[in-house]
Amino acid sequence: GLVLLLWAAMGYLFGSIPSGVILARVMNLGNLRDIGSGNIGATNVLRTGNKKAAALTLIFDALKGAIVVLLARSFAAEDAAQLGALMAFLGHCFPVWLGFRGGKGVATYFGIILAIAWPVGLVACVLWLLVAAISRYSSMAALITGGWIPVVFMFLGLPGGFVLSAVLGLLIYWRHWGNIQRLKAGTESKIGAAAKT
Ligand code: G3P
Repeated sequence: GLVLLLWAAMGYLFGSIPSGVILARVMNLGNLRDIGSGNIGATNVLRTGNKKAAALTLIFDALKGAIVVLLARSFAAEDAAQLGALMAFLGHCFPVWLGFRGGKGVATYFGIILAIAWPVGLVACVLWLLVAAISRYSSMAALITGGWIPVVFMFLGLPGGFVLSAVLGLLIYWRHWGNIQRLKAGTESKIGAAAKT
């Protein structure tokens, strides 16, 4: 009871740290809300043209998820790790510090899956890179990865990972609703394309 609540709170707290917003501010890249998609994630930070800031955003947002899973697992148990992971994802998407208007959770998702089961995390990374290389759409890579990873967990007979990744996959689709509409309309911007001003 109380232990799970503690890890849920810890997960949310970690997840809600908006590293993209902080890095963009510290590195003088402007307000992410006024750039590209307006999102706070690495893909949109890259639209400022600063690759280092984008890479750091990706790493920090992934670490938020991974650290919560690894800490909860070693100090509590797997159920705490799963709940902490979900709350870290939700913290990134709905951070209290930004009036609950946060990101889409993809980098945090990668940190989570890598920490839950690193071989599946590697599959997720390869899949994302493959789809991104072919399509040049970050959102499409996230949508395809989010959809297939639960299948991988199921195939491996890992029910915990299946449930968690299925829930996170649904949340990824929900958070990418605007991207899905833009992909359909052919107006989604490609990876590394400069932000339209
Ligand atoms: O992870 C977010 C990515 O899939 C889409 O980001 O900025 O293009 O909406 P963005």
